[in-house]
Amino acid sequence: MVDLDKFVADCREALKTRDPASVVEKLVQDVIADPAALDAAFAARITGTSLQDRMICNDEELTVAQIAAPPGLRSPVHNHCMWAVIGVYDGQEHNRFFSDAGGEPEQIGEQLLKVGDICRLTADTIHAIHNPLPTRSAAIHVYGGNLVTREGRSVWNPHSNEREDYEINQLSRYTKELSELA
Ligand SMILES: [Fe+2]
Repeated sequence: MVDLDKFVADCREALKTRDPASVVEKLVQDVIADPAALDAAFAARITGTSLQDRMICNDEELTVAQIAAPPGLRSPVHNHCMWAVIGVYDGQEHNRFFSDAGGEPEQIGEQLLKVGDICRLTADTIHAIHNPLPTRSAAIHVYGGNLVTREGRSVWNPHSNEREDYEINQLSRYTKELSELA
């Protein structure tokens, strides 16, 4: 059984430590060890399909969400301006990492996350995600801040490659456009 309230409480305790992301990584490792139990725990809490509906908690210190991606989903390039820990428990999440040193995003790495894999993002990580399989992917994402309102976040326009201020509905629109092209 996975108790998401306990998970959130443990994450809040982790925030008091010197290296919250490392502590959260261990907590994520524990909950993704039983994918069926974690999925059932999310299913009991999630109220809809939007990102906000999939958030178990969302405040200035912490955001915990289930990110479930349908087959072929592609996000635009974006940053978070806070650390994050991603733990995949169903399907696969392909992460590409970028540098913006030259103005336009330039890919500098990639990581294919499979069930049981964990990826840590630092505050300056720029990435895009893709579900490469014909089945859904599901992951628990923990962010060290407010994923919706964090100041200074960017999304790169997939048509012009220009950097734009992050806005959650614009990210959703770009995701829809990119996924339909896939
Ligand atoms: Fe992201």
